Amino acid sequence: MRIDRIVAVLLQMLMAQHVSAIAFNTQDQNLIKEAASTTAYSMMRYYHGNETGGWPGAFTFSWWEGAALCNALLNYWHFTGDDTYNDELSIALQWQGGSNGDYLPQNFSQYAGNDDQVQWASAAMTAAEYKLPDRPSGFSWLALAQGVYNNQKNNPSGWDPSTCGGGIRWQKQPFQSGYTLRNAISNGGFFQLAARLALYTGDASYTDWAIKSYNWSESHGLVNNVTWKVNDSTDGANGCTTRDYTDWTYNYGVFINGCAYMYEFTKDQIWLDRLNGLLNKSWELFFTARTNYAASDAVCEIKDNCDRNGMLFKGLMVMWLANVALLVPSTYSTILSKLQSSASGAASTCTGLGNNTCGVRWYGGEWDGKIGMEEDISATNVFSVAMLPFVNKDTAKPVSSSTGGDSKSDPNAGQGQDTGNVVLAPITTGDKAGAGILTVVFVGAVIGAIVFMFTGA
Ligand SMILES: *[C@@H]1O[C@H](CO)[C@@H](O)[C@H](O)[C@H]1NC(C)=O
Ligand SMILES: *[C@@H]1O[C@H](CO)[C@@H](O)[C@H](O)[C@H]1NC(C)=O
Ligand SMILES: *[C@@H]1O[C@H](CO)[C@@H](O)[C@H](O)[C@H]1NC(C)=O
Ligand SMILES: *[C@@H]1O[C@H](CO)[C@@H](O)[C@H](O)[C@H]1NC(C)=O
Ligand SMILES: *[C@@H]1O[C@H](CO)[C@@H](O)[C@H](O)[C@H]1NC(C)=O
Ligand SMILES: *[C@@H]1O[C@H](CO)[C@@H](O)[C@H](O)[C@H]1NC(C)=O
Ligand SMILES: *[C@@H]1O[C@H](CO)[C@@H](O)[C@H](O)[C@H]1NC(C)=O
Repeated sequence: MRIDRIVAVLLQMLMAQHVSAIAFNTQDQNLIKEAASTTAYSMMRYYHGNETGGWPGAFTFSWWEGAALCNALLNYWHFTGDDTYNDELSIALQWQGGSNGDYLPQNFSQYAGNDDQVQWASAAMTAAEYKLPDRPSGFSWLALAQGVYNNQKNNPSGWDPSTCGGGIRWQKQPFQSGYTLRNAISNGGFFQLAARLALYTGDASYTDWAIKSYNWSESHGLVNNVTWKVNDSTDGANGCTTRDYTDWTYNYGVFINGCAYMYEFTKDQIWLDRLNGLLNKSWELFFTARTNYAASDAVCEIKDNCDRNGMLFKGLMVMWLANVALLVPSTYSTILSKLQSSASGAASTCTGLGNNTCGVRWYGGEWDGKIGMEEDISATNVFSVAMLPFVNKDTAKPVSSSTGGDSKSDPNAGQGQDTGNVVLAPITTGDKAGAGILTVVFVGAVIGAIVFMFTGA
């Protein structure tokens, strides 16, 4: 072949590759929005909670993934301004709160872990902070977050002082495997929630529990205040002396975001030091030259064996990092560069199946053959946060009740028991979520009541 022919063929190959990749440029907000919109659309194809007979916000195979989806939808809307999915989001987020407003709806309360429950609370808190309007009736976003906080701090199925001097258990039910474990995401999740409630409400009593749970995590081998390593869990069955020291992105991210809120609320240097220590360690562990500085949960990505959960962690990590950059301006430029390298890396790998399918890995410049909702959720998160330089830093920052947040407070939320009745706001014309579902629930409730009357008599 003549040299010009070879060049032409090579060019053609390059072009072909280019055409099937997501067009992306960190300096071009239209391309970023398009990329995020592509993956958000793809991710929502797996969601059927708004169809007649569906359960808003629930995936029966994994209840917490509904929270991951809601978090991604909030993040997507906040950074791109596209509210296409907000009706479904709003209904799902309230529905899973259950009748007691503590995210232990009867259908899932038998196997909900504290980490699952707190992910829902985190989404509700984000809804309040990003000013998603409360629904016309039923629980407010803030009350739902307060409900989980109260539930976890007041019950030994959450904070359990009977062993290890406290700490939040991983699972709530003794028959669940993992019941004896105290893991980083549950304890970090509770810490973060308490810190966010303090900032949003201005009520410093929430920081008592934030400090208590942070200190506990530090003194029981979950967070090291010298090396800034975060272990995955410790075991109450042997007095919290053994540890699983696996490094996962979101275990770091959950503490990082909590520290940012504590710093914003208290302006105490100690929280900034903790924040910077954990950030530095995260750059060292998860945003390395090996992946061209794209976020990576190496522990499963290298072996190509990430499970559904593992695929979601770095999406939560980048979402929290963007939030931290807005809350604590001194972290902005370092965080932005990691978010941009992650988003560019992801875009270069979303080349699957001729329709921009994204995989798990965000490095290597090619699709890794994986397809699924979890991949799309994480990709949506990373593309959305790449909008960081194009949003107004002052108005995009999470609000509190003293800076324009108006989600209704209920400090005593979540103290009762779920009755299985779903309390929902009236359906408006904007709510596509299906009159069908309401009818089913209503008829079900009536039948339930009749059955109860007969069997109870
Ligand atoms: C991309 O193509 C694959 C294979 O044809 C298909 O399964 C998938 O649904 C497509 N994705 C979108 C977003 O249409
Ligand atoms: C619980 O499951 C029933 C079907 O078994 C369903 O009708 C109901 O809507 C579900 N409740 C919630 C809160 O999703
Ligand atoms: C938390 O730990 C710090 C030292 O790291 C200590 O000064 C503080 O008194 C502790 N607070 C609580 C409530 O345990
Ligand atoms: C670091 O953690 C240890 C163990 O909890 C604690 O004793 C020490 O006071 C902490 N130091 C700082 C500077 O927070
Ligand atoms: C994490 O666990 C390892 C192994 O048990 C232990 O050596 C290390 O001190 C722990 N790290 C923290 C954060 O305390
Ligand atoms: C984090 O890393 C930066 C840059 O290397 C360094 O200046 C800073 O002292 C580190 N902070 C902490 C708390 O480790
Ligand atoms: C459910 O939501 C999806 C995604 O937004 C949308 O395409 C679909 O039309 C909705 N279905 C109903 C019944 O509202």
